[in-house]
Amino acid sequence: MQKRIGACRAHTNIALIKYWGKRDQTLFLPTSSSLSLTLNAFYTDTRVQWLDNLSNDLFYLNGEKQSKEETNKISRFLDLFRDELGINGYAKVESYNHVPTAAGLASSASAFAALAGACRESLHLDWSNEKLSTFARRGSGSATRSVYGGFVEWNKGTSSVDSKAIAIDDANWDVGMVIIAINKAKKKVSSREGMQLTVATSPFYSQWVEQSEQDLIAIKEAIANQDIQRVGEIAETNAMRMHATTLAANPPFTYFEPETLQAIASVQALREKGFTAYYTIDAGPNVKVLCKASEMSQIKQHLSETFTNDQLITTTPGDALTRLDHWE
Ligand code: PMV
Repeated sequence: MQKRIGACRAHTNIALIKYWGKRDQTLFLPTSSSLSLTLNAFYTDTRVQWLDNLSNDLFYLNGEKQSKEETNKISRFLDLFRDELGINGYAKVESYNHVPTAAGLASSASAFAALAGACRESLHLDWSNEKLSTFARRGSGSATRSVYGGFVEWNKGTSSVDSKAIAIDDANWDVGMVIIAINKAKKKVSSREGMQLTVATSPFYSQWVEQSEQDLIAIKEAIANQDIQRVGEIAETNAMRMHATTLAANPPFTYFEPETLQAIASVQALREKGFTAYYTIDAGPNVKVLCKASEMSQIKQHLSETFTNDQLITTTPGDALTRLDHWE
């Protein structure tokens, strides 16, 4: 009998053209396509083991058995595979998150991509990463993009089977990122709630969707030209336009904190000094600085005049999902 065990590593990603809003809440179909950069420094390792003697799924995170509530999230995800394949049975899922808490980054992207990958290995499925990404998507939208390395597009698609990730470019040129960790506390408005409120109430929302489509075309051209400055300019305006939709929601809200604005000013000052540096911000206060990998350490040094060393993390682009056969 084949072994029913499989393990995978997936890296987190940062969107340069944001996913901000769903057109289908259950299937996680987005209103617009998005594009991200996969990051080498942050990843999740996950192992899935289908065991005959279980009467429910088990979930361990960083070696600790998780609550019923957390395990239910994993079970709902495993149900997607059970339903698709018409199988029964339960699994033991073990995950290790290498996303430093100080980075204040969401780990759901790497978590669900790694889990989807470990499901594929443990069930011996002959599925492409594109197909797998449609399953990762159902765990967390941003997880769609974490199946590939480098620059990745999540094409919004027309249905659940073609709303998937596409590899755009391996980013194996002068690309880097410096994370400015502002606050690691759990955010007050989750990305899910924030999107829903914005889609339902922000009069800027339809313009955001329209503009994002233009931004996507432009950024793909800039990536093809390996023009990091142009990529940064587009990413920065796209991020700010996303945040503008939240300010116009009812009730209005923002993910920015005072230090977020301070970080923005620091990035602008870096540009005045001649560095290629552009910021992007997700559904939280942290600021991510897209830059040339060759300037990363100098940029970090400049930023350390304003931020502490443990608030600053540098990273190069990360790889696609990889199988961890030594753990199987
Ligand atoms: O997939 P979620 O629910 O973590 O949402 C991600 C939303 C943003 O980070 C703001 C944008 C993005 O495309 O990752």
